Amino acid sequence: MADVGLISDGAVAVQDGVILAVGPTSELLARYEAHTTIDAAGKVVTPGFVDAHTHAIYTGDRVAEFEMRIKGATYMEIMAAGGGIVSTMNAVRKADAQQLQIETQQRLDEMLSLGTTTAEVKTGYGLSLAAELKLLQTIEQLNDAHPMTLAPTFLGAHAVPPEFQGRTGDYVDLVVKEMIPAAAAWYETSHFARQGLPFFCDVFCEAGVFDVAQSERVLAAGQAHGMIPKLHADEFKNLGGVKLAVEMGAASVDHLDMTPAEEIELLATSSTVGVVIPAVNFNLGSCHFADARAIVDSGAILALATDINPGSAPTPSLPMVMAIATRYLKLLPAEALNAITINAAYAVGLGDLAGSLQPGKWADILILDARDYRHLAYEFGKNAVKTVIKAGRVVA
Ligand code: NIG
Ligand code: FE
Repeated sequence: MADVGLISDGAVAVQDGVILAVGPTSELLARYEAHTTIDAAGKVVTPGFVDAHTHAIYTGDRVAEFEMRIKGATYMEIMAAGGGIVSTMNAVRKADAQQLQIETQQRLDEMLSLGTTTAEVKTGYGLSLAAELKLLQTIEQLNDAHPMTLAPTFLGAHAVPPEFQGRTGDYVDLVVKEMIPAAAAWYETSHFARQGLPFFCDVFCEAGVFDVAQSERVLAAGQAHGMIPKLHADEFKNLGGVKLAVEMGAASVDHLDMTPAEEIELLATSSTVGVVIPAVNFNLGSCHFADARAIVDSGAILALATDINPGSAPTPSLPMVMAIATRYLKLLPAEALNAITINAAYAVGLGDLAGSLQPGKWADILILDARDYRHLAYEFGKNAVKTVIKAGRVVA
């Protein structure tokens, strides 16, 4: 984790959008003749970033809740009072697909300019069959229209919608019996399936939302329909979600703010990636962070993500996440960089295609206006990413 595999005076050879070779510039110049050369002399070249956990598709904002929290309300209090996820759900249900696409596209543009070339995107602001399908279809349109590669996740079990208030079990029935089969049918004929890109199923396993048994029902139904499990766990209360994630072979288990040491040890015995999201703690004004140091030191796989959403983490910036993680989680810049590239790629099932500069992978490459990669985390609040290359093409 503390080694980024630095090559000084290195070069990357690209053909048809895929990396052909990586090595010292003199070697590559002797071996290949380039049609086009991009000079990155004196700068740093890194893999494109992978944002492994996002709720990037939504409309509206929750700036009023931001002020409520400044005055002392907590995130879970606002949610329990019918705000939070449900208020964004109301906006998303009303919005037409075109409006959703336009707003989300602008958000993806910002993420791209900050270096994100691949992002997982969750549904979860529809919470009805029709609205969740509208979100999935819009994610597909965005993947076609935008340079960034998107990895779709069905998160019908993100919150209990108002029409099911007090009847969480009935809502889980709807998710399991109607939404998951419909989402699986959508994926089957989607461009994602055709391109061999994976499809995930996620659940907000949290006190007052979905308990472990309900989460297991949702993820098992998803798995039976070919969807790969993911889990929001231990964001506010420890319920045992890590054990469930490991038992089900989940691709990732995300948040982990309240995960006890023995569950981190359990995570370390698995290939489930622990995705830590320190922008949430920062945004909620909390000084309590996930123990990312223990996750790395235990030998578990750590990734970092933005969680971009209008409530708990309104940020498109993985460099900002690096800045927080290096200071408060005590990760080295190298560990933080690996956590938003190669490890994040594994968290979204794309470890063979993205997240590092290696032959055969997508030519997703960033040129930083910095002489040392550590400046990415060291200088904060600016954008060091000067050129973004996606599949061999300059896109930002
Ligand atoms: O990851 N925890 C649940 N979902 C998001 C928050 C979404 C929202 O507040 O709109 C999260 O923090
Ligand atoms: Fe989330």
